Amino acid sequence: MIDIDWERLRAAASDACHHAYAPYSNFFVGAAGLVDDGRIVTGCNVENASYGLALCAECGLVSSLTLSGGGRLVAVVTRAVHEGVERSVMPCGRCRQLLWEHGGAACLIDGDGRIQTMAEVLPNAFGPADLES
Ligand code: THU
Repeated sequence: MIDIDWERLRAAASDACHHAYAPYSNFFVGAAGLVDDGRIVTGCNVENASYGLALCAECGLVSSLTLSGGGRLVAVVTRAVHEGVERSVMPCGRCRQLLWEHGGAACLIDGDGRIQTMAEVLPNAFGPADLES
């Protein structure tokens, strides 16, 4: 079982917030994930003048995970800076589905000050197993 350094993950998510491109919402999000081989991958939100095209921080995290060698997500922290205040936030619904794909039911999420499993934050999920005949 890999050791989870939550403080290090929070610091990585916090750092990623400062790279966010969020001129429309001014909601600067950073996400950090611990991979089962010990890597830490991060992502930040990237917005667009066509508002609905915003890419969430967790989306960038998943891209970084794949680009840097893949693996399974063990733990994820999402932080946001808004009006100068930083706090943890829960991944949105779409991002829960993205994280489910790469972390599964046991992946731990620290989004609102308590740690929950993906099974708790996305109950009765649709996933890769549902595509098997
Ligand atoms: N956002 C994320 O990056 N992750 C989430 O899980 C929630 C929402 C971003 C999208 C948008 O750029 C901004 O936060 C406001 O919704």
